[in-house]
Amino acid sequence: MKSYVILISGRGSNMCSLLDANLPGRCAAVIGNRPDAAGLDFARERGVPTVVVDHTAYPSRDAFDAALAAEIESHAPDLVLLAGFMRVLGDPFVERFAGRMLNIHPSLLPAFPGLNTHAAALESGVRIHGCTVHFVTPSLDAGPIVIQAAVAVQAGDDPARLAARVLEQEHAIYPRAARWFLDGRLRLEAGRVRLDGEFAVPAALCVPCLSP
Ligand code: GRF
Repeated sequence: MKSYVILISGRGSNMCSLLDANLPGRCAAVIGNRPDAAGLDFARERGVPTVVVDHTAYPSRDAFDAALAAEIESHAPDLVLLAGFMRVLGDPFVERFAGRMLNIHPSLLPAFPGLNTHAAALESGVRIHGCTVHFVTPSLDAGPIVIQAAVAVQAGDDPARLAARVLEQEHAIYPRAARWFLDGRLRLEAGRVRLDGEFAVPAALCVPCLSP
């Protein structure tokens, strides 16, 4: 059976959506970089082993990356899932896990990389916002895109209200992408995403709408 590890920094709602999705693989560990990450308790409640690799305990980013990589490799996972993991990882780390590390980002990439994506989306005036699962490459939030989900921006949205609707979609698409990978249907080939059995979607999402 394949196995995966999940990396978190905080509340861990995406981690919970992955652990509760009955994925075709074993979660070998949830690894947090903060001892107080709330998600660690949710993982323990589900009987998943947890580990803390506290970034404040290392003198440099390279030293932290090396310790984190060693911890991950000790579980020999097929897949590494970043789920609200808020540390920027160095190039050697990213290259070590190339083609087997996914991330969830709360925007329709390549729009709004980085932090505060919901405020940025509202500020820019886009009508459609959403989330993206992508393979992790050395450029931040710029790896090959696996799946995206879109939500309409609504009148009266503030960043928190918009974030809540996007988060619901994050919880839907991340387990789907992880399942595809663990089923052997999803891979990276020469920097391009390959998904077996993919077909074209006929529908378009148009926003705003007016009744006729
Ligand atoms: C999510 O919005 C995720 O896309 C982003 O950080 C947030 C983490 O939330 N990278 P959670 O810890 O999964 O609840």
